[in-house]
Amino acid sequence: MRLGILLSGRGSNFQAIYRAVESGSLQAEIACVISNVPDAPGLTFAVSKGLQIFALDSKGVKRVDFDRRVLEILRTNKVDLVCLAGYMRLLSPEFVDAYRNRIVNIHPSLLPAFPGLDAQTQAFDYGVKIAGCTVHYVDEGLDSGKIIAQASVEVLPEDTAQTLSAKILEQEHLLYPKAIAMALATLSKSES
Ligand code: GRF
Repeated sequence: MRLGILLSGRGSNFQAIYRAVESGSLQAEIACVISNVPDAPGLTFAVSKGLQIFALDSKGVKRVDFDRRVLEILRTNKVDLVCLAGYMRLLSPEFVDAYRNRIVNIHPSLLPAFPGLDAQTQAFDYGVKIAGCTVHYVDEGLDSGKIIAQASVEVLPEDTAQTLSAKILEQEHLLYPKAIAMALATLSKSES
């Protein structure tokens, strides 16, 4: 199964996916890494590992036009599953439809609580005692697709929004490769 990674920044979740693929714990191949931010640090890592990258600048490009270019790259590279890894751009309905049930995302909260930006701070400010992360399929809504897997962390009295974010990120790195394996298994079943 071939993965297409979409990112916009640091790419630590992408690195976790890469490590899982390298170690064989995730049986898949990273077909390409696409960023809508040409100088995203995640791309530097991809290049250092010899992966195929596409650095596209989405600034000033209409969503539907930009997404068509991305779709073309995904199709040319025969991508089976699209993994959003800190991709800070909403997908057009056309994109979601073209890869229906084949796009996954990681979000740093226990959805359906705290969708949208700065989820960790939203959770911290709310005063939750259990926080966490969610891997879900992507549909037309905001962080609203079917949940694949979740991991939780306890919010301790000494935590700040920053320490909580770090604890959640640690769990993200463990959860995302496992959830991708689950999504791939579902995909294989539906194709056989
Ligand atoms: C992560 O917190 C992820 O949950 C969210 O964006 C952040 C991306 O971080 N969707 P990174 O680029 O993977 O380090």
